[in-house]
Amino acid sequence: MPTVAVTRVIPEAGLRLLREAAEVKLWPEELPPSPADLAELLQGCDGALTLLTDAITGDVLDREPGLKVVSNFAVGYDNVDVPAATTRGVAVCNTPGVLTETTADFTWALLMAAARRIPEGRDYVREGRWLTWGPTLLLGRDLTGATLGIVGFGRIGREVAKRAAGFDMRVLAYDTYEDHDAARELGATFRPLDDLLRESDFVTLHVALTPETEKLIGARELGLMKPEAILVNAARGPVVDTDALTAALRDGTIGGAAMDVTDPEPIPADHPLVSMPNALIVPHMASATVATRDRMAEMAANNLLAVLRGERPPHIVNPEVLERRQR
Ligand code: GLV
Repeated sequence: MPTVAVTRVIPEAGLRLLREAAEVKLWPEELPPSPADLAELLQGCDGALTLLTDAITGDVLDREPGLKVVSNFAVGYDNVDVPAATTRGVAVCNTPGVLTETTADFTWALLMAAARRIPEGRDYVREGRWLTWGPTLLLGRDLTGATLGIVGFGRIGREVAKRAAGFDMRVLAYDTYEDHDAARELGATFRPLDDLLRESDFVTLHVALTPETEKLIGARELGLMKPEAILVNAARGPVVDTDALTAALRDGTIGGAAMDVTDPEPIPADHPLVSMPNALIVPHMASATVATRDRMAEMAANNLLAVLRGERPPHIVNPEVLERRQR
């Protein structure tokens, strides 16, 4: 039997599949393994099921020459040095598709909560400040009829666009690759990023984190946005410059922000952003439903086991590794 490392407790649906086919070394703690703990966990393993909190570098891979696959329990894989894995013949897998709708739904939850100031309303009641109905109490922004700017028009971005139709929104999209058929079908129009930022009432981010998208939204970009606009980040924290966002929210450059992801992540509870009334921050939970996390666990396990069986996994980021092995 092969040996596989699992770097945190994942839903049983995935663990069961792994245990049927492999010896499983499971990291049982709530916090991720330290680099030293990770090295120890990976020792002698044929495969690793990793999370977005594990940095899988060339050094990590060099220590375990027997490792054939790193199967990430996430659609994003910016925590894995893919070129380093490819050079060393290690397959890298991810879990696309199964979390698309769940993440798009959550993006809407963030958009609506921020637009209609739901967290502030909850605090208001909890703090005993609700004395009467107020004609100007906690006034928010209408989604209906507003302009939604979607940055990153991939799977998740397109699902977000689909949901905008129910709110009669004008949908703008930005992507380096413009799929005009998809945009037409969803009633979206491509715009250069600066124009999208200028024209949108709500801007939502759905790009992968790469060197090109790091700090894609900085002081200059926030400065282009409308003063009442709301920014949603359901992508990766470093896509937004945290200091610039903190300043923009403080100075009224934009109206508000709702973030599933932050930089750093987790963001310290005493960071100025956390206590700002116009910032809504939640702990990277956009794909967190029972059904979706089960599907992610199954997919990550199936990807890993397929590589170990010498088969093509359902989702591989660097397929050239497999092609090379066949030769
Ligand atoms: C979560 O952020 C993911 O990439 O799946």
